[in-house]
Formats: sequence, C-alpha cells, structure tokens
Amino acid sequence: MQKIVIGNWKMHGDPAMAHTLALQVADVADKCTEKAEVVLCPPAILVLQLATWLVGSAVKTGGQDCHIQPEGAFTGDTSAAMLKQVGCKYVLVGHSERRKFHHETNADVRNKAARAIKTGLIPVICIGETEEERNAGKAKDVLGEQIRECIPEEAISHNFILAYEPVWAIGSGKTPTADDILLMHDYIISLTAKRTGLDLEQIHVLYGGSVKGDNAREILAIEGVGGVLVGGASLKSEEFCRIIQAA
Ligand code: PGA
Repeated sequence: MQKIVIGNWKMHGDPAMAHTLALQVADVADKCTEKAEVVLCPPAILVLQLATWLVGSAVKTGGQDCHIQPEGAFTGDTSAAMLKQVGCKYVLVGHSERRKFHHETNADVRNKAARAIKTGLIPVICIGETEEERNAGKAKDVLGEQIRECIPEEAISHNFILAYEPVWAIGSGKTPTADDILLMHDYIISLTAKRTGLDLEQIHVLYGGSVKGDNAREILAIEGVGGVLVGGASLKSEEFCRIIQAA
C-alpha cells in the first residue's frame, strides 16, 4: 500500500508562501510517487490556486472541511462539489479543531464523509481521543464510538481514509509510543473491518499528531500506519520534505 502524506496547513498561508511551498514540495514528491501519495490541504481560499500550480505534478490537493449539503444558503461554507470542481481529490472531515471550535458531532462527520464520497472526493475521517478520555481509560471506547458513528454506509474500499489523531498529540510535541500507535491502529483497523465488511488490507489509517522530520521514519515504519497527517511541520518545506522522504 502506498503511504499517504497529507499536509494540513490549517488557517496559515498566503498566495506567495503557498506558491513557493507547493513547488518545493512537488519537486521532492514527484521523485517519490511509487511509495508515497502527497496531498496538500490549504485554507479554502487558496485551494484553487494551489491546484492550478500543481497541474503536471503528482501532488494532490485537498480541502480542510466540506458542508453536509450539496449547496444552499450556508454563509462562509464550502461544498464538496466546489472542492471537486477546482481539482481536489481529498477532503478532511471531523478534524478535532472542527469538532472543538465548530461543535461538529459524529453524525455531522458521517454526513460530511457521505457527501464527499457521493461527490467523488475521498474523505479523510479524523478520529481520536482527548487527554482526559485517555487518562480515564476510555480511549478505545471513544474510538469505537467514532468508528461506528462517523463512517458512512457509502464507505467501501479505497473511497475513504481514516486518520487517527490523539487530540493531546496535536500541536503539542507529544506523541504516543510506537507500541501505543501499533495497538491503536490495530484496534481501529479491526473495528473498521467489522463495521464496513472490508478486509483488513483494504483499510487505510493515517497517524496524525506532532509528526516531524525527526520522528516520521519511526512512525511510518509501524505496522498498520498507512501514512501521516501533518499540521505544523507541513508549513516548513524542509521539514515536510523530510517526512515525504521518510515515507
Ligand atoms: P500537528 O497537527 O502536526 O501540528 O500536531 C496535526 C493535525 O492537526 O492534523
């Protein structure tokens, strides 16, 4: 299975920075296409330009969120169709920052993922426990609930991806141990197989949370880790390119 390396720029960037970074990333990523699929998820306003600059490169573009409805009176939102029309292949759904700051529920995430699939985008469905939930010994329960409630019926092989992002690892510089990641990915894959009826090998789960140039190789070597979802380190060309090379 090709590793997938996704850069989530969050609410960072401007056209000049995006142009430079996209070309630098493409230069490295285009030499690694057999082993890694590289995806950049810029803020919505930069998606069109980024996709245009990346024509002719293997680097794919993704949105950071999409609306549940195909279109309508939803001020400030972006539809899955709009992302698709400007050249996106992927869209993140249910990132913990969307859940926290926009109060998205598991049902919202499932509906967004379903909309993405119906539109021909691959949703990257983000799941993960908070520090509080982990300390209370509830990490697996929370993940189980998210898997049951966030994966839509439309999910069949290769039209969706999961990203396991422990909330406490995002932007904190803290990561779970390799054993922990192995255990959690194994759990997520087997539960998703039960939930969808897919074979274990058909389920693609990325790890996210404080992935850097220094730890990418170790994390990507863990069984069951199908790639990485990178926040902060994806804004620094050299750092992100090291992660691509690790994949
Ligand atoms: P981080 O963010 O790499 O900065 O921890 C990951 C994410 O939020 O997807």
